Amino acid sequence: MTSADNAQPLEECMEVAVRVARRAGQVIQEAVKHDKCVSTKSTAADLVTETDHQVEELIISTLRDKYPSHRFIGEESSAAGEKCFLTDSPTWIIDPIDGTCNFVHSFPMVAVSIGFAVKKELVFGVIYHCFDETLYTARKGHGAFCNGLRLQVSKEKDVSKALILTEIGAKRDPETLKIFSGNIEKLLKAHAHGIRVIGSSTLALCQVASGAADAYYQFGLHCWDIAAAAIIIREAGGSVVDTSGGPLDLMSRRVVAAGTMEMATYIVQQLQEIDYERDDHQAH
Ligand code: IPD
Repeated sequence: MTSADNAQPLEECMEVAVRVARRAGQVIQEAVKHDKCVSTKSTAADLVTETDHQVEELIISTLRDKYPSHRFIGEESSAAGEKCFLTDSPTWIIDPIDGTCNFVHSFPMVAVSIGFAVKKELVFGVIYHCFDETLYTARKGHGAFCNGLRLQVSKEKDVSKALILTEIGAKRDPETLKIFSGNIEKLLKAHAHGIRVIGSSTLALCQVASGAADAYYQFGLHCWDIAAAAIIIREAGGSVVDTSGGPLDLMSRRVVAAGTMEMATYIVQQLQEIDYERDDHQAH
């Protein structure tokens, strides 16, 4: 796969994505200094601000101007009712602010995430950490990089030597919280070195890509949280799978990622599932 369609080489699309992600990051850096207008979406823990909307509009309008035939899946457009499903068309999958709760609290783990898929296959990803200005990128077959330095996942296979990341997700009902805690408890009982929750799925997944964490799992994330990060982890040598152990299903809202397949498989075996509605539910 060398081109998004006949006209645009993927490399050029990725350069455009990097430029718009950096611009979006500047808008977020400026906005974090000011009061925010915060609303909720699916639950009281699922936050959105006017900056999420502004940044998504900036990214999509910039890309649509340049690539009018491409499709777009964006977090806030989907929340507003736009259909969220992949076709064979070149498709941009965008999270304007990943870590909106962090952004609201000025907790410095906030990213812009832009993934790109052609014929339903992820072909490049760009994640920009807005606070420390770190840029993660990967293109299929060309490796993964952080600020230009090549990324390599951890080779750890043994959970008792692992640092594992997860995120809570938006559902907070007693049953969900019980399963969430139970999953953590199982990994701690297996003597994992530690479990971390940093408030941004994309940046947590980037820690797996860089080898700073050995694994990540989550129920309740969205396709825009996984798209860019999945290709970055794979290009850094890691595995990204469904929580059933099968291939990643971008719309399933669940993932296990790890430096090694052995680690991913172990974690898959420990997890009890938390049920979330699929991202493409409107398509059925
Ligand atoms: C969310 C964050 C959060 C994770 C959620 C994500 P958002 O993204 O990454 O940590 O638990 O599943 O949807 O709403 O801040 O873009």
